Amino acid sequence: MSESQGAVLVVGGAGYIGSHCLHELRSQGFETLCYDNLSEGHRQAIGPTELIEGDLGDEAKLDKLFSERPIRAVFHFAANCYVGESCEDPQKYYFNNVRQTLGLLRSMLRNDVKRFIFSSTAATFGNPVKDVIDETHPQDPINPYGRSKLMVEWILRDYHTAYGLDYVALRYFNAAGAAEDGSIGEDHDPETHLIPLVIQAAMGKRPDIKIFGDDYPTPDGTCIRDYIHIIDLASAHILGLEYLEKGGESTAFNLGNGKGYSVKEVIDTVERVTERPIAREVVGRRAGDPPVLVADYRRAAETLGWAQRFGDLETIVRTAWQWHSAHPEGYAD
Ligand code: UFG
Repeated sequence: MSESQGAVLVVGGAGYIGSHCLHELRSQGFETLCYDNLSEGHRQAIGPTELIEGDLGDEAKLDKLFSERPIRAVFHFAANCYVGESCEDPQKYYFNNVRQTLGLLRSMLRNDVKRFIFSSTAATFGNPVKDVIDETHPQDPINPYGRSKLMVEWILRDYHTAYGLDYVALRYFNAAGAAEDGSIGEDHDPETHLIPLVIQAAMGKRPDIKIFGDDYPTPDGTCIRDYIHIIDLASAHILGLEYLEKGGESTAFNLGNGKGYSVKEVIDTVERVTERPIAREVVGRRAGDPPVLVADYRRAAETLGWAQRFGDLETIVRTAWQWHSAHPEGYAD
């Protein structure tokens, strides 16, 4: 499968999604390389893949890498990803997520590397106008994070037309879970995502989980989200690469499991899986949270042949629990 066409360069491979992509690429026999400055990622998350330590803004280093090593494609994950922070410090998001990506693309084009798998987000859609979101849903992001990712989607479209850069942009819904073998998992600082926070409450690392609003127009009043297993997410990137290599049109796909789970359902599932009671307190709504966000992933299924292996919430939580219970301090353990 990987045949001698060069390595897949995973930019930001020390982070949560990038490291799981490296894990899946290796397990499918691909040659891999990682480029990361370790500013937020973890060296241990990279595994046996060779790390080239560098900043995204260091075009001389990228040029050297692209000219010396055969690279069949770039998977790009190096970005900031906190919605709240992006509102407080938009410059950080436009600089790191947009400007630095322009440098990476410029270096790729200079060195004739023309396949790009881009980590995009459901945040590019903004407030949903329907509950189940397919690729034709309007993209009208409501925060700088979503806008920074959408800008890159636009840039990719233009670069495809003008320079022949082939790309697949993958718009993730809620990435969660961990590799089945327990070797890598989620370790963010600060942690803001629901599943790891509920697990921290189960472990006694926090007194309770705050439920951000139970007065939404949903069956139990709490927000519904679409949780997708991180390895299923990773496998979609690989299918995206194979699709481009077979001559597929550059485009974007939505990636979720297509089922929504409420915040209360997530907490109940974590209680069941961990067999520990979890104290919960309902507090006010968090700004910017739509009531329901669920992906229509049929296009990825039909076009890429993508199928989920770990689609149910129980499995997602079980793999996350396996990682967190074995590594209570994350990679510091
Ligand atoms: N939530 C709580 N309590 C918490 C944390 C979260 O009730 O302590 C709720 C949130 O209000 C939301 C749900 O749990 O309803 C999920 O929240 P997350 O923060 O885990 O995830 P989001 O849906 O806010 O964000 C995800 C990605 C973002 C992306 C966004 C797209 O993590 O990167 O989807 O809408 F931008």
